[in-house]
Amino acid sequence: MCGEPMKQTHLYDVLVIGSGAAGLTAALQLEKHLRIALISKAALQGGASWYAQGGIAAVFDKNDSADAHVADTLTAGAGLCHEDAVRFVVENGPDAVNWLIDQGVDFTKNRDQKDYHLTQEGGHSHRRILHTADATGKEVTGTLVDQVIEADNIDIYEQHCAVDLVTQADNDSRRIRCTGAYILDIKQDIVSLFQAKSVILASGGASKAYLYTSNPDGASGDGLAMAWRRGCRVANLEFNQFHPTCLYHPKAKSFLITEALRGEGAVLRLPDGSRFMGNFHPDRELAPRDVVARAIDHEMKRLGSDCLYLDISHKSAAFITEHFPTMHEHCLEFGIDITTDPIPIVPAAHYTCGGILVNNYGQTDLINLYAIGESAFTGLHGANRMASNSLLECLVYARSAAAEINRLTPAIGAPDFIPDWDESRVSSSDEDVVISHNWDELRRFMWDYVGIVRTNKRLERAQHRIKLLQKEIGEYYSNCKITRDLLELRNLATVSELIIRCALERKESRGLHYTLDYPELSPIARDTIMVPINYAGQNVIINRD
Ligand code: FAD
Ligand code: SIN
Repeated sequence: MCGEPMKQTHLYDVLVIGSGAAGLTAALQLEKHLRIALISKAALQGGASWYAQGGIAAVFDKNDSADAHVADTLTAGAGLCHEDAVRFVVENGPDAVNWLIDQGVDFTKNRDQKDYHLTQEGGHSHRRILHTADATGKEVTGTLVDQVIEADNIDIYEQHCAVDLVTQADNDSRRIRCTGAYILDIKQDIVSLFQAKSVILASGGASKAYLYTSNPDGASGDGLAMAWRRGCRVANLEFNQFHPTCLYHPKAKSFLITEALRGEGAVLRLPDGSRFMGNFHPDRELAPRDVVARAIDHEMKRLGSDCLYLDISHKSAAFITEHFPTMHEHCLEFGIDITTDPIPIVPAAHYTCGGILVNNYGQTDLINLYAIGESAFTGLHGANRMASNSLLECLVYARSAAAEINRLTPAIGAPDFIPDWDESRVSSSDEDVVISHNWDELRRFMWDYVGIVRTNKRLERAQHRIKLLQKEIGEYYSNCKITRDLLELRNLATVSELIIRCALERKESRGLHYTLDYPELSPIARDTIMVPINYAGQNVIINRD
């Protein structure tokens, strides 16, 4: 869009879009002489990071080893992890966690107050998860938010939503570089241009594409959709992880029941009280997450049951309230005392394993555009993310991307003139129902047709529906003033279409992608890479096949 005078133009060294663990870490790791804009469409605490419960996986125990952490991650990833990325994350993990500790993050210690208490979750062969009781995200994010507020070189823009990236031809390399983004000030209803030498997408995942999710409202895959629109490749979006245990209660919105509960001995039960995980995997409740979610889905469908149960009531009340205070209090609000009662649970969409293709510095296909955290595809997770590896990935890639930006910034020239955002041909919508209706429809058919168990027929149905929706949303977008809801719907539609396309391309069952039409594992493990028609070119050599 072009023509109208700009409301305001901001010029920075680095634009960081997203204030979760990834964005906050990157902002704090950039050199202090760089001017940084930190953008969040919600409050700074509005991302998934704030809600993390279980913790951060890293090798801290002397009986554990990087090799064991690597091996467990590869096994959980069902043959599709990129071993170089896994090793990169695991080996840089302890330093990244120690940096958090240096910032003041207060991880739970053992009773003797000497060593950190390490918990265990599915797929991990050792206790290796650092945590702050059952509210790790709050502690980590809260600590980093305090630092960011203190930092003189960081300007914070809450309630600002990135609309689209801006790019220009790079005269030296004849490639495309990213030079900023159009940003909607949600409260003032103004779109401004933020120009920067480097842009970091740290905008989280896309689990809001599904009707039931553990994620906060903003998980609409904005960064993924923005990068795709500007010519970046994306990969492996068929692997959306479903967390096995979210609280089932009509009034409990998106509340996760941490896997650490199972790590500390909680068992899954059918409505008649019997255990069933032994029928599905030798590791029972600590089997990889995809296996547990599918087993629950199978049993719920077989029994026609609305939920199953997770039970830790055999542990002492003192143990439960010490280790899981948030869980205990939250469930009590819904009349469930976890010290005595089993917890009603259902699976829900939880984590986007695929994302924007990046290398070990978080560099994307566009020069000076980085993607980190859940929005990125690094190769770490393969076909199924192992619990508590994602916060670790956020930290490690935020640090490597920031180091690369620190190194490159002095040589980056000022961005060219960019056209103003033009709203002269659009009007305010008088039919917001179009947004809410399409949003509901999309999330429902994604749940029904592109969920835990897939078939070709269901995927084709979903593909047909998404094309119709995209057309309608596209028309609406061209004619109406943008709002956060409209932007999110448009992005979710783009990402959902990509999820469906990736799922249709994978003609096997692997990890989180399970289809009745191809129940077997293919002998060759391949990523599903989507290349946009305006592919920005091989700006980045991804150092793997
Ligand atoms: P987020 O923390 O999701 O932050 C995204 C940020 O981007 C937000 O600030 C958001 O406002 C902003 N944003 C998005 N779009 C725009 C836009 N268009 N314009 C401006 N800003 C935008 N992982 C673990 O490793 N351990 C755990 O214990 C764990 N527990 C979890 C529990 C829950 C309930 C959930 C939902 C996830 C959990 N995960 C856990 C996964 C992990 O929390 C996430 O993968 C991780 O926090 C993602 O961090 P991020 O920085 O990439 O994104
Ligand atoms: C949990 O606490 O169960 C979530 C952990 C994760 O998603 O990594």
